[in-house]
Amino acid sequence: MGRLQDKVALVTGASGGIGAATVRALHREGARVVAADVTTGAGEKLAAELGCTFSKLDVTSEQDWKHVVADIVAQHGSLDVLVNAAGIEGDVVHGTPESTSLAEWRRVMSVNLDGTFLGCREALPVMKRRGAGSIINISSTVAYIATPNSTAYGASKAGVMQLTKSVALHGSLEGHRVRCNSVHPGIIATRMIESISAQLAQFNNVAVDDVARASMSRIPFGEAGRPEDVAELILFLASDESRYITGSEFSIDGGWRLMGRPKPANK
Ligand SMILES: NC(=O)c1ccc[n+]([C@@H]2O[C@H](COP(=O)([O-])OP(=O)(O)OC[C@H]3O[C@@H](n4cnc5c(N)ncnc54)[C@H](O)[C@@H]3O)[C@@H](O)[C@H]2O)c1
Repeated sequence: MGRLQDKVALVTGASGGIGAATVRALHREGARVVAADVTTGAGEKLAAELGCTFSKLDVTSEQDWKHVVADIVAQHGSLDVLVNAAGIEGDVVHGTPESTSLAEWRRVMSVNLDGTFLGCREALPVMKRRGAGSIINISSTVAYIATPNSTAYGASKAGVMQLTKSVALHGSLEGHRVRCNSVHPGIIATRMIESISAQLAQFNNVAVDDVARASMSRIPFGEAGRPEDVAELILFLASDESRYITGSEFSIDGGWRLMGRPKPANK
């Protein structure tokens, strides 16, 4: 018996690094996984490889959410696990509190915070009907620390952390056990971190290798995490092994939070 045997799980951002690793981990443990992303390609290919469903879902769209959740209920009868992993890093070159345009602020908030909110809102009634469920929202280490080059991104991830707690308390009322927890990755080797490093190198006019070295110097473990590391934590939170945990924050960052953040290099 797998750790998620017979559970139905929806994973957003399934074409990306952490989302794809999560789809694989949940599938390995017996869940019926629906992989969803706004881009097809990688997520669709992965779903075909594993024999699970792929749904095209733009997390900023209320309509898309309603369709995807209704389809899951029609096909599987329930939704037990929701992993909100879709996210964008935004413009790091023009990302200071002074240089962030309102359009860019709204773009990042729309995917990272609105998208997570909509997912929680649409999953809650379905999970409450069964009296139980687990929602895992992917926040970030930057929910806790200043992000002078990624103002919108940091604010969106802090918002996800707080949203998680409201959903957790709401989901615990009236005898329900709809759990909601946030996962806070540090630096994980995916497309997103490559993009952030390239943009920071451009902003500071240094080589990408220099940015990578500076990033690693903040991490006691001295290396980036793997998407699979994050997926195993998500798996634990999705499973009944975490049945008594809700509204909590889980850092997975090789000790980054223990070190703090050095003063950013001047431009
Ligand atoms: N990689 C890291 O170091 C790191 C650190 C902390 C938090 N995170 C968070 O982890 C999550 C996954 O990131 P990743 O590193 O796998 O990045 P990634 O870029 O590999 O994957 C992100 C995925 O989200 C999808 N996406 C973007 N906009 C979407 C939308 N509107 N609707 C649906 N899907 C959309 C993309 O198509 C992509 O497949 C994100 O929320 C990210 O902010 C990542």
